[in-house]
Amino acid sequence: MCGIVGYVGNGRALDVLLSGLKRLEYRGYDSAGYSLQMDDSLVVRKCIGRVKELEEMNPGDAINATTGIAHTRWATHGEPTTVNAHPHSDFSGRISLVHNGIIENYKSLRKKLVAQGISFESETDTEVLAKLVGSEAGKGKNLFDAVKDALVQVRGTYGIAVLSADQPSTLVAARYGSPLVVGIGDGENIVASDVAAIVAHTRNVIYLEEGEIVEITSGGISSNSSDPRMTRDRIQHVDWDLAEIEKDGFSHYMLKEINSQPESLRNAFRGRIDLVNGTSRLGGLGMSESDMRGVKRIVITACGTSWHSGLIGKYVIEKLARIPVDVEYASEFRYRDPVLEDGTVMFVISQSGETADTLAALRLAKKRGIRTLGIVNVVGSTIARETDSGVYIHAGPEIGVASTKAFTGQTMILSLIALAFGRAKGNLTREDGIELCRAIMEIPEKVETILGGCDSIMEIARQFTYASNFLYLGRGVNYPVALEGALKLKEISYIHAEGYPAAEMKHGPIALIDDMMPVTVIAVKDAAYEKVMSNIHEVKARRGRVLAIATEGDNEIRTVADWVLEIPPVTDILVPLLSVIPLQLLSYYVAVSRGCDVDKPRNLAKSVTVE
Ligand code: F6R
Repeated sequence: MCGIVGYVGNGRALDVLLSGLKRLEYRGYDSAGYSLQMDDSLVVRKCIGRVKELEEMNPGDAINATTGIAHTRWATHGEPTTVNAHPHSDFSGRISLVHNGIIENYKSLRKKLVAQGISFESETDTEVLAKLVGSEAGKGKNLFDAVKDALVQVRGTYGIAVLSADQPSTLVAARYGSPLVVGIGDGENIVASDVAAIVAHTRNVIYLEEGEIVEITSGGISSNSSDPRMTRDRIQHVDWDLAEIEKDGFSHYMLKEINSQPESLRNAFRGRIDLVNGTSRLGGLGMSESDMRGVKRIVITACGTSWHSGLIGKYVIEKLARIPVDVEYASEFRYRDPVLEDGTVMFVISQSGETADTLAALRLAKKRGIRTLGIVNVVGSTIARETDSGVYIHAGPEIGVASTKAFTGQTMILSLIALAFGRAKGNLTREDGIELCRAIMEIPEKVETILGGCDSIMEIARQFTYASNFLYLGRGVNYPVALEGALKLKEISYIHAEGYPAAEMKHGPIALIDDMMPVTVIAVKDAAYEKVMSNIHEVKARRGRVLAIATEGDNEIRTVADWVLEIPPVTDILVPLLSVIPLQLLSYYVAVSRGCDVDKPRNLAKSVTVE
């Protein structure tokens, strides 16, 4: 959440800042601003709304400035207003600061500063930090030392970039709990909250460590870390293609990402399937077969959509490997006193690798001596770096705020993990393993078939434009898919939707059913089919309208459901990889027909770096 960009070099800072902010806008988009260093002063512009509004503001002579910082905001403290937008200034107006994170003790710091005669304009926690840096600088310190001494007084999380009118061509940046990365260019350096803002300029980056403070000039970077010189060893190469962060002719990132799933799923299993032995090879896990046999319990922790993929992981791992699995909301896990016995390993699932609650749950498990394994998309992210080992899902950048291809990538990796554990523990024969490997390899083609039918999904979606409630039902491994379908719909179309295990419906939600309530049921030809059919009859008996996700060629379901969307047949445990696709498309088309901003839904942001 919140996007930060800072530039120092020989080029026009404003161009780099604005194009960087546009790429980071998915992190927050309620207001935006920049500060440019011009001669011996700072030129600050801020506005409510999107980066395109900011672009229209006149920077005056600062258009040619070569040093600056910028921010796109997701409000935490104080409404989205121009005054609350970043950058914030110190009392003299000679220091500007942008911030991602939360300063928890901002009230007491503010009181202290007010007592020193410093006044405040905004309601934000960030302004306190800006004033604090100014107050330290007022004691004759350079910007780096002023930032360092201000941060000592702060409790909370931050990724910050700071600029001073008194120190030309210099930025200071620091991180604790919020990611920051520095792009190393030729005579120019860029700091940003994620590499998306950097890749157009350089692929060489340094990820800042927790607690690190850096001074950045066009010629180099120096740091307070144990490795104070930014040696070449710390530079990592980002292998993203710029095309991966463009819309590529699609009207939205979300639609592009839904359509890229055949490819992202191939990337998830490429080089990881062992057809000879009927197992998977996940070198990144760093676990031998005997390590796997020693695992007595698995805890999966995650948030949101990633938590849903974790629930699918529970079904699949328990079925194939017979290891008990608990799936925990990271935000709950971190504040409980969880029982973590010997023999427990934790899988930490996160697309961004930066989610604050998930990171805290990971750190808690590590403190308790539990082995932690990441299932992460963003390479080099904090969770990827802090887990003991892990597997990347290789889905490529996910820009649409509603997660789609990351969900299927995570689900695919969990199936590969279940396969490896199942084979290592001897619960799965080589023959069954080979059959599952083959089924996995056929998934991308089957996803393509579903995507090919998107016109009929669009047609059906149109009929739900004015719906105000939706129920999603599924059983077994498709129950988490029902949760995910409901989440997708509510987050981008603002229609209230709930996901339930199909049989639970009669314990309460059935009271809601009438002819105004569309009920989406995942009713594929699996072991639960007959039971789910009974649930559909219960809905129909109350005049509910049923949209069924069914297996190709199932004519019986057409006699009861009002609408049917077909998916190709597939072995039970892999169904979620297919059944979720029509639900993603359904929510997308419903949101479009309601005129919603699909890629930037209200109140949301990608990468939730505050708790
Ligand atoms: C929903 C969505 C969120 C994320 C959640 C966790 O579409 O994207 O629910 O899944 O915020 O994010 P990550 O996976 O980045 O930890």
